[in-house]
Amino acid sequence: MKGGKGLYSVRMRAERGHAHISGAEGIFGENDIGETVLAYVARALHHSKGAPDTLELKVELLPRPPALISALPVCTLKTTCPADAKRKAALLLARAGVSERAIGKAFRILSAGRMRGAALLDAAGGERLEPDRKRGVRASMLGISRGAMKSLEAALSEKKLDHPRVKDALVLASKVASADGIAAELCISDDPDYTTGYVAAPALGYVRLPRIKKKGSLEGGRAFFTTKASAASRLARYLEETPVLVGKISEIGDIITLHGLQARHNHRKPGGKKILGKKDRTGRAASGPGRLGR
Ligand code: COA
Ligand code: AMP
Repeated sequence: MKGGKGLYSVRMRAERGHAHISGAEGIFGENDIGETVLAYVARALHHSKGAPDTLELKVELLPRPPALISALPVCTLKTTCPADAKRKAALLLARAGVSERAIGKAFRILSAGRMRGAALLDAAGGERLEPDRKRGVRASMLGISRGAMKSLEAALSEKKLDHPRVKDALVLASKVASADGIAAELCISDDPDYTTGYVAAPALGYVRLPRIKKKGSLEGGRAFFTTKASAASRLARYLEETPVLVGKISEIGDIITLHGLQARHNHRKPGGKKILGKKDRTGRAASGPGRLGR
């Protein structure tokens, strides 16, 4: 096996009675492995879902140097309740090019919960593309450099968002968004105590959605939407196997309204396209919650 300039993937997963409790991973140089393993063990033993009975740690030399990417820019959307947050999530997904049918399907999958990874859906037709629907696909072999992590923590602290969950999810979503053919991701945590979800997309960044579910709810999961259904297995291989390291962060923004997000994207016009249309400000665009059957 060829070395990855001495970089290792360190992965932890903890379970109790075969039920998954927590997982974490990163990419580190040899000198940081010991400290990381201790931190992961402490995290697993003090998880809000309770103590595990089994803790598995893997330390694996990267087969090749990681691809370097930037983290997605982050903002938090103003939301009032689960219905409002879901309606806004649907609008964002539609703007990222996901069809109403695929959005509806993703929300139904996430409502049912209990997946071990993410559903992979055709952004146009909504068809499930992963071979094992209970497992889904898992984004793995990912991490953030020491320098980028320092900058991220400082920027998140300023917005009172410096929490491991936000950092981990941002790294994961940034790898997913870096994949060829990814239109967007939708995530609702399956942790009954954590009620902030997100929509992430190359064109939108990482948009946090507070109050997307009620406290105590067991719903949750992830959906990845692709515009290249015919290359689904290549995409899954990239997500699961290609080492990717976040080496740079982007803007960590404030709490904004849908209108504010629209103004920001109209101003920047990434890729020369508007991200949110005028209609969206009034909430009349294609995929309101009623149209999603939720
Ligand atoms: N839910 C339920 N079971 C899970 C799980 C999850 N989220 N993650 C792993 N498992 C269990 C499954 O039984 C899996 O077997 P399967 O492939 O048949 O489903 C088994 O663990 C082995 O998973 P695998 O991914 O091969 O293990 P790993 O040791 O290589 O990596 C993780 C484990 C948890 C580190 C990795 O899967 C992962 O999720 N990495 C991203 C972590 C992260 O940053 N998450 C951000 C959350 S905000
Ligand atoms: P969490 O953010 O840890 O609460 O996880 C929410 C949901 O995301 C889980 O229920 C899984 O369905 C899914 N998930 C967890 N880890 C991964 C991963 N590494 N890649 C893709 N999906 C994941």
